[in-house]
Amino acid sequence: MASISPLSFVSSVNASATKTSSSSLFPKGRQSHVAATKVSCNASNEEASNGIAHGNRRDVLIGLGGLAGAAGFAYNPFAFAAPVAPDLQACGLPTLPAGAKPVKCCPPASTKIIDFEFPKNQPLRVRKPAHKVTGDDLVKYKEAIKAMRELPDDDPRSFTQQAAIHCAYCHNSYHQVGFPDKDLQVHYSWIFLPFHRWYLYFYERILGSLINDPTFALPFWNWDHPDGMEIPSIFTDRRSSLYDPLRNANHQPPVLVDLSWNRNGPDTSGDVDANLSLMYTNFVEVKAPLNFFGNAFRAGDTPYTVKTGAGTCESVHNTLHTWSGDRTQPNGEDMGSLYSAGRDPLFYCHHSNVDRMWNLWKSFGNKDITDPDFLESNFLFYDENKNLVRVKTKDCLDSVKLGYDFEKVPIPWAKTKPKARRTKAERAQKPLTTKSVDLPLTLEENKLVSTVVKRPRRSRSRKEKDEREETLVLEIEFDRRKPIKFDVLLNEEEDAQFATPKNREFAGSFVNVSHTQKSSALKTELAFKIGITEKLIDLEADDDDSVVVTLVPQYGDGVIVKGIKIDYEDC
Ligand code: C2O
Repeated sequence: MASISPLSFVSSVNASATKTSSSSLFPKGRQSHVAATKVSCNASNEEASNGIAHGNRRDVLIGLGGLAGAAGFAYNPFAFAAPVAPDLQACGLPTLPAGAKPVKCCPPASTKIIDFEFPKNQPLRVRKPAHKVTGDDLVKYKEAIKAMRELPDDDPRSFTQQAAIHCAYCHNSYHQVGFPDKDLQVHYSWIFLPFHRWYLYFYERILGSLINDPTFALPFWNWDHPDGMEIPSIFTDRRSSLYDPLRNANHQPPVLVDLSWNRNGPDTSGDVDANLSLMYTNFVEVKAPLNFFGNAFRAGDTPYTVKTGAGTCESVHNTLHTWSGDRTQPNGEDMGSLYSAGRDPLFYCHHSNVDRMWNLWKSFGNKDITDPDFLESNFLFYDENKNLVRVKTKDCLDSVKLGYDFEKVPIPWAKTKPKARRTKAERAQKPLTTKSVDLPLTLEENKLVSTVVKRPRRSRSRKEKDEREETLVLEIEFDRRKPIKFDVLLNEEEDAQFATPKNREFAGSFVNVSHTQKSSALKTELAFKIGITEKLIDLEADDDDSVVVTLVPQYGDGVIVKGIKIDYEDC
């Protein structure tokens, strides 16, 4: 049993929060609520292609917020459950990459931690695409960031402290409650989305309170729409509070974002069609929650083992970090390294769109993870009144309940399914010749590796496919200090030039954003997973016993591939 010891934590002002249950983390009613619901892996393609977006429930839900939160169950140290939590009292110096200026990342001390309560009777904040933010909205946004920059560094709401939050949660400042020797890492696992949602929730409210505007909403960098596929111009005015000098000089507007950017390739403007295809592949057809959110991360888990690994949402987001950061800096600061990313106002706007992807993905008919360790995982943030608040993942699943939503804008990628480069008949004329290779093997830049991967099942019924997503699992080890990317192709073995999201054979990309963490030196292991059910159908390969998998290293060499297999992930 992985027990956790939250005693130093329970100093809540909410009496109900100390309620515990001797046999379970949850009272009966709650258990039934979290019981796994079977969701079809395919139910939602239809909804996605109709371009249905989230956001029509706002009137109903806003203001009802207190209900779920009021239950306020604290975790029970004796329960058989292990939600991860940061240990504030043991917060220490971060492990920084070479060349980084020493910095402290822990928040100011507080003697009291309060439990989160939903905002009540407040207007809904509607987040807009950054490229459409003008006039009064722009003035307010700049004023708010300016006011945040002017707060003294030891104020938890200050620009410096807000940026430090990201450093603390991903560079080894925090350890886990009950596991003093275990680092807390909010990337490469299922806590990625909830952590960043809460981070922005407080950031947005602090900005609003600094300009006395309860409707203030953080814009989103609409990089999934052709009109938003460049650094929003509001961030590029050098005199503005939104400006950060540490960005890639070659990627200023009107240069288009390249969602599959290859750092070592020709640094050309992105391609709209390739971007939209990549969005389809990563956000429309991935149905299994763990493939979208990332793998489980529970209290007592060590970050960077093959149990962990990012989902598709995080992987796509990684490229925008690397693409935006200043590559003349030692670690791609600011956006290109996790310890410094929060220093660029663009970071929050980027994450506002990542957060929007979560809502969109659910609007396509997909469901949140229901595992109690996910739902009870918790984090600490200072709010707009400088109170230290403990928040839980289960309270952030519905953004409208948190008091914000996103302006509905077209989703041009909902229908941009890429086409196969070769049909089955064409493949038959020039059959694949790849044999299976021995693992482990080490990837070298510009050297393709192909292997044959056996499929445990083939020609599954539609029902089976809808219940479990066929998933390609790559177990890899790499040096996390390096920016790394490799692409993964299916039934394609010939040439790196075919590694474009515009081809159906392109399955996805592994992307690492440079960062450091002390545990087990620099050895980083994880499982990179890609849902391939629909891809294999479109490649007319669903009746085959095996699939050829080709890895195309794009930048950052030395990745060790330890395992490649096919598994099935619940929808
Ligand atoms: Cu915490 Cu965009 O990363």
